Amino acid sequence: MRITDTSDLWWKNAVLYCLDVETFLDSDADGQGDFQGLSQRVDYLADLGVTCLWLMPFYPSPGVDDGYDISDFYAVDPDLGTFGDFVEFIRMARDRGMRVIIDLVVNHTSDQHPWFQSARASRDSPYRDWYVWADEPPADGPQGVTFPDKEVSLWQYDEVAGQYYLHRFYRSQPDLNVANPKVRDEIAKIILFWAALGVSGFRVDAVPFLIETLPSDKSQIPDPHEFLRHLRSLLNRRTGEAILLGEVNLTHEDQRKFFASPEGGGQELTMQFDFIGMQALYLAMARQDASPLIRAIADRPPISVENQWATFVRNHDELTLDKLTLGEREEVFRAFGPKPEMQLYGRGLRRRIPTMLKGDMQRIRMVYSLLLSLPGTPVLFYGEEIGMGENLAEDGRLAVRTPMQWTPEPGGGFTTADPAAIVRPFPKGAWSPKRVNVADQRDDPDSLYSFVRQLIRFYRECPELGWGTFSALESPDAAVFAHRSDWEDRSVIALHNLSPRAVTVTLTLDGVTKRTKLHDVLRPGITPVDAKGAFTIELDGYGYRWLRHQPDGTLPI
Ligand code: NOJ
Repeated sequence: MRITDTSDLWWKNAVLYCLDVETFLDSDADGQGDFQGLSQRVDYLADLGVTCLWLMPFYPSPGVDDGYDISDFYAVDPDLGTFGDFVEFIRMARDRGMRVIIDLVVNHTSDQHPWFQSARASRDSPYRDWYVWADEPPADGPQGVTFPDKEVSLWQYDEVAGQYYLHRFYRSQPDLNVANPKVRDEIAKIILFWAALGVSGFRVDAVPFLIETLPSDKSQIPDPHEFLRHLRSLLNRRTGEAILLGEVNLTHEDQRKFFASPEGGGQELTMQFDFIGMQALYLAMARQDASPLIRAIADRPPISVENQWATFVRNHDELTLDKLTLGEREEVFRAFGPKPEMQLYGRGLRRRIPTMLKGDMQRIRMVYSLLLSLPGTPVLFYGEEIGMGENLAEDGRLAVRTPMQWTPEPGGGFTTADPAAIVRPFPKGAWSPKRVNVADQRDDPDSLYSFVRQLIRFYRECPELGWGTFSALESPDAAVFAHRSDWEDRSVIALHNLSPRAVTVTLTLDGVTKRTKLHDVLRPGITPVDAKGAFTIELDGYGYRWLRHQPDGTLPI
């Protein structure tokens, strides 16, 4: 593998940034973000150093699930702009060296979608079989209900249709019937349509639900994974660089079959989010004990060189803790969100990191240092770079989807509209735009923004992190997460102290030579290593260090 290969498989050491056009920048003072506003911030994003933008859904939608209920897959929501604005934005991002991926939400449509309107109206509709119907509600639910605050079953009786239909999410999001080849063809067409407009791939929503039909369904897809392989090869025939980044919140073992087919031959998803690693990270932080995180990363199934894990510490949904045991989940709740209003669906948190960590800047920095040094490709959620908080007065998951805070002004530099017209109110007090904003942090070398920007730069300069092989280093102190990533002849060693105590640890490296020296990455400094590979590191409370070495002892840069 050569350094030049890192640009072919660009996603292996990309830095992704997820944003919602609606909450990023409002260019026409109507209180809601739009593509023209986003285009004005392309240079900001390029300067931050992110290399790929992930846009949350921007399609026409009644907005019951904040745009994840789509009523036209082939259009841009007119409130957000035109096709022209979309294409101009893509062109501009590419010019500044950034790729764009978009949300592909095809497990379901909105109930307002013309396909569903036609399907429900008549059993003879050509679209009837595009959805999943039953005369009697199968005895599935409430098991598997995703939003238990609003739904009690996966099946909803439709008066017009005279039958029940399947919905994995809200009842206004009827599931498409992928067992129908016409539906599968249409999904392929949607993907190829957007690829033709210049996107570099898709974040694929709810993949297991998309391809796996329920046992109670009448019709079944012959081979659900074949469908994914088909989509991937079709996409890559049109656009070699395009990726599928899947939301597959399953165990690591179950995620394995979504990367490559077990029989070999044919790829499915290019990347998958590491939900297990993310949950283990929170448990490790709550316990101030690195072992859950070490176990989770070590437990990732091996993946092929083209595949990659997407790491994250926050996304646009509740911070799900669904794969922890009840006891473990309670530990995380106690540490980071003890009040009922901070929790959601009994399984997750609706807070952002700075509030969960009570504004402790050293600890917040440690978390981002950890995220950017974990093996994989980091995904940031907008506003994380400046330490935005949430607004718990907002409903459910919307608490963490407040507008981007650009300036200290009342409209946060997001909009000049009347505050009453703003798409979603900002957090108040210590987390308001007055206290947390880009303008104040951008020129301050000691700000969180400057720190995150530097971490991104260092992550990009250390291909070992995205491409390397992970191994944990044995630490005498359980609070220290110490790992190395080896790639070609180089390594990065990262140490993170999950506790508030200052610690000094002596660790041992394999494969050292007489000339091995460890060069600090985040600041100047050299740590000697003895002939047996031992080296000693001091870490402040919540301290972090990245160290890099090359076997010939030369200075890595
Ligand atoms: C997963 C998305 O992340 C979430 O926001 C959405 O509500 C559901 N899928 C349904 O599309």
